Parts: sequence; C-alpha cells; structure tokens
Amino acid sequence: MHPDLDALEDARDDALEGAPDGGAAPRDRLGRVLRDLRLSVTDRCNLRCRYCMPQEVFGADFAFLPRADLLTFEEITRLAGLFAARGVRKLRLTGGEPTLRADLPALVAMLRAIPDVEIAMTTNGTLLKSLAAPLARAGLDRVTVSLDSLDDAVFRQMNDMDFPVALVLEGIDAAAAAGLGPVKINAVVRRGVNDHTLVALARRFRGTPHVVRFIEFMDVGTTNGWRLDEVVPAADLVRQIDAAFPLEPVEANYPGEVARRYRYCDGAGEIGFITSVTQPFCGTCTRARLSAEGRLYTCLFAVAGTDLRGALRSGAGDAAIGALLDRTWRARDDRYSEQRSDATAGLRRVEMSYIGG
Ligand code: GTP
Ligand code: 5AD
Ligand code: SF4
Ligand code: SF4
Repeated sequence: MHPDLDALEDARDDALEGAPDGGAAPRDRLGRVLRDLRLSVTDRCNLRCRYCMPQEVFGADFAFLPRADLLTFEEITRLAGLFAARGVRKLRLTGGEPTLRADLPALVAMLRAIPDVEIAMTTNGTLLKSLAAPLARAGLDRVTVSLDSLDDAVFRQMNDMDFPVALVLEGIDAAAAAGLGPVKINAVVRRGVNDHTLVALARRFRGTPHVVRFIEFMDVGTTNGWRLDEVVPAADLVRQIDAAFPLEPVEANYPGEVARRYRYCDGAGEIGFITSVTQPFCGTCTRARLSAEGRLYTCLFAVAGTDLRGALRSGAGDAAIGALLDRTWRARDDRYSEQRSDATAGLRRVEMSYIGG
C-alpha cells in the first residue's frame, strides 16, 4: 500500500467530481479519470531551449521521426474522438513545436467536429504572427505561449537560437487579436539563468488579461542536465513577486489544474505557479499524452508507451482500439513527481520534445 494513499484518495475524490456521466469513463489504478489529452503533432522545433532540446543532443544529425511514421490528421482525429468518448474534455496540441506541422489549421478544423471538447495549444509563439488567425478560424479556443524572459539577451541565450523576445511578443499580440486569449505565458525558471528577470515578466503582463505561469525546472527526459539546485521552489518565487506586487491565492479553475493560481491584490490580474518538483500534483492527474508517432503515454516521465499506430494501421475497429485505450488507462499507476526517486533511475525516460510537456 502507498504510504500517502489517503491523500491520493482525497485528491481523487475531488478529481472525480467533474467526471462525465454514463460509466464510459475508465479509471486508473489510483481512481483517476481521463480528462485531458495532449497531442504531440511533431517532435521538431525551431528553438533549442537548453532545458528541453540541448544542441549537443538535438544537433544536425539527430534522427527526428520520419514523416511516414507520423500519425495522419485522420488518425489523430479518430483517436481523439475515441478519447472523447472516454471522458476527455480538453485536447491540447503540443510538439516539439506544433506550428511546424504543415497545415495545422486543417487538423484543428477536423478536431473541432468532436463534440464538447476544448482545443488548446502550447507553442513557442514564433510562428503565431501568421498562424494565429487561421488557427482561430479553424476553431482553436486558446493558446499558451512559452516565454522564459523579457530580457532579450537572457531569452536569446535560453532558446539557444538567438531568437528575439520581440517576435514572441508579436505572436502573443497576434493570438490575442485573433481571439485566442487570454493567453497563458509559460516561463521555465532556472536558478542563475533567468530567475533575476521574473518580476519584470510579471510586471509586463500585469493589467492585461494574460496569465504568466512560472514553472519549476523539471527532470523530464534524460538529456537536459537537470539538477535539483537549479530549481527555484515556487514558494520562493511567490514571496519574491508578492514583495513587488502583493498576491492572494485563488481557487483552482478545475479539479486537477496544474498551476496554482494567485491574483494581484490590486486587481491587476492573475499569475500561476507550476510546482511539479516541490509540490507535485499526481493525485489529481487526469492527463494522457499521445506522441506524434502514435504512442500513448500515461505520464510525462514514462519510459514506455503503448503503440496505437500499429492498431490503427492494421485495420482495427473502434471497439478494439477503444478497448486498448481502456486497458492502458486502467493499468495506470504513474505518480512519478510524487516519487521522484529511483522509480526510473537508469532508465531512458521519454524526452519533453517527443511527448510535448
Ligand atoms: P491549462 O491548465 O489548460 O492552461 O494547461 P496546462 O497548464 O496543463 O498546459 P501547459 O502545456 O501550459 O503545461 C504547463 C507546464 O506544466 C508544462 O511545463 C508542462 O510540462 C507541465 N505539466 C503539464 N501537465 C503536467 C503533468 O501532468 N505532470 C507534470 N509533472 N507536469 C505537467
Ligand atoms: N521543465 C519544465 N518545463 C519545461 N518545458 C520544457 N522543458 C521543461 C522542463 N525541463 C516547458 C516548455 C513549455 C511546456 C510545454 O513545457 O517551456 O512551456
Ligand atoms: Fe522548442 Fe518548446 Fe522545447 Fe523550447 S521548450 S526547445 S520551444 S519544444
Ligand atoms: Fe501526472 Fe506523471 Fe505528471 Fe504525476 S508526474 S502529474 S502522474 S504526468
């Protein structure tokens, strides 16, 4: 028995309050339902953030997925529909960088035909200037843009492609203008790299509807050189920002929300903290992840996934694929961030750019 089973059960009961009716929703071994599906549509990216795709690993000779291995839009949409029938209510497009996938608005339009799902996207924002409007027209509901610092030198160094802040800010503006806001802005925090620039980031978006979220640097994958001493605990950041702009906590938007929300006491908006290292949230984790080549992962830190592409391409019917989804979810007992231990020591965990965060 897990020592903190009671805590997990309490969290699970909260997460289940939002469960769909009808009994079609499978529960995993810790009682968690399936609510969110993160769809990686490519493992490529035009940036090389050192905490995600270090150049030494993801260089000119890195073997990205060949095109024929990627799920087609029809295959992605079919799987998303089967997931929706099992309780998924949010689809989130991820990558690598999802906007690099050719014809992305066409995929969004196909996903839009699935009833009762929200469609979001996590992007680096570099291509939003031209893509925000077509994506919104196709039915995308909202975007989250990664931006680690407003300090141009710091940002250029972090993305390791000398990409300027100004173009990402233009992307955020284009998203807002296209109706994809309020935009969430994700900043990964690394001690000694960008932690001195975060109050300025908060200040820039105060008084706007956009929500900056500070993310603790995570030990995803095995190539990003993660070290615990580079993690700035969110509690320290809350204190730092609260000292500049007083904050008060806000209730979660939905059970199992990843970010802890705060609002500025003076009414200038909201910010969030994603605390997967210091205060993990596995107990309410309702997320499944599908890689661009059709492997289903039940945890961001998984070492193995379930191949769905094989089933799709061997002509399996919806009932058979649905049963495979149910089996996979029911067998799930992942809670890596709460264990962060030896559970996967020495094993090759999946990379962030492959699984989409
Ligand atoms: P919304 O609540 O809809 O805004 O989405 P989100 O916060 O789940 O999505 P986003 O892609 O912005 O994720 C924010 C950060 O949280 C990223 O760094 C993710 O990798 C991280 N994250 C999301 N889900 C999980 C999770 O299940 N486990 C862990 N450890 N981190 C997660
Ligand atoms: N730790 C925390 N967040 C990360 N991201 C990528 N790599 C890491 C990491 N090692 C973030 C990206 C993006 C989101 C999907 O995940 O910046 O905002
Ligand atoms: Fe690309 Fe996002 Fe990874 Fe940076 S964090 S390398 S933008 S996928
Ligand atoms: Fe979910 Fe795994 Fe993240 Fe825990 S570590 S919240 S189980 S994805």
